[in-house]
Amino acid sequence: MLKILSEKIPIQEIPVQKNVKLFIKREDLIHPQISGNKYWKLFFNINNYLETQPKNPLIITFGGAFSNHISAVSATGNLAKVKTLGIIRGEELENKWTHNPTLVFAKRNGMNLKFVTREEYRHKDKLTEFLQQEFPEALIIPEGGTNINAVQGIKMMLNNDTKDFDYLCTAVGTGGTLAGISEFCEENQKVIGFKVVDDSSLENKTSELTSKQNFHLTDAAFGGYGKINDENVRFINDFKMKFDIPLEPIYTGKMMQKVFEMIYADYFPEGSKILCFHTGGLQGIEGANLMLEKQNRDLIL
Ligand SMILES: Cc1ncc(COP(=O)(O)O)c(C=O)c1O
Repeated sequence: MLKILSEKIPIQEIPVQKNVKLFIKREDLIHPQISGNKYWKLFFNINNYLETQPKNPLIITFGGAFSNHISAVSATGNLAKVKTLGIIRGEELENKWTHNPTLVFAKRNGMNLKFVTREEYRHKDKLTEFLQQEFPEALIIPEGGTNINAVQGIKMMLNNDTKDFDYLCTAVGTGGTLAGISEFCEENQKVIGFKVVDDSSLENKTSELTSKQNFHLTDAAFGGYGKINDENVRFINDFKMKFDIPLEPIYTGKMMQKVFEMIYADYFPEGSKILCFHTGGLQGIEGANLMLEKQNRDLIL
């Protein structure tokens, strides 16, 4: 079972030379292995399932080779002593997973890995149906953990400390985190989702998960999902040196870089108070650095 965490999650100010105030809420600090939004997206999914006391509990989920979600589900399974099965995109990884730190971590947590082709992965609905027939008692969590239970869990990221901000910002992969913030924030707050994937259906997908229309999506893909350019690396390393806060290159680094661009382009009205959620995922830095090293490029510090 995942616990409701009682400690206060710190909100840190990031000084900027503009007439706005910028803050970051360190959800990345809530758990060393199930960090950021993952903890809250899994919270009701896993707890509701375990409350039904399945005889042979099994959690099945989907993800790519460096998935923060796969990493978090495997760690949760290990903690809760529940078997986990990860359906991984890319059959070519079957013989190479030992070179991938995320998959090594998942295996170490006892997760079974099943590698499927990109074509099979694209038809996850079919796979889900098939898996549910094969394992009728299993909990099958969709890719990225996004579903209605995840949206309810994101409510826990909002509290008295977050009420006083004009803008709430989060990185967007599947839209669950954005939908939760949108659903449960204050009426007067504006929510900005920073899209790190080039997916034109995200607006609709998010709208299906929230009853509110207070959110706005902006592009922060910087060339595409998972692509990391030299400017991204420089930004993350500068940010760490100046503010002593680590960011990863797939979600939070791109969101913060875009937030800075918007601040210096005077997007936010003077006096605005902006809160960005640090949604964790720092485990991804190791895999990103392996790729950067192969390309002989600067690494993330
Ligand atoms: C670190 C991090 N931030 C943000 C997100 C985006 O969350 P969502 O998929 O709910 O849009 C993810 C993806 O799950 C993530 O791993």
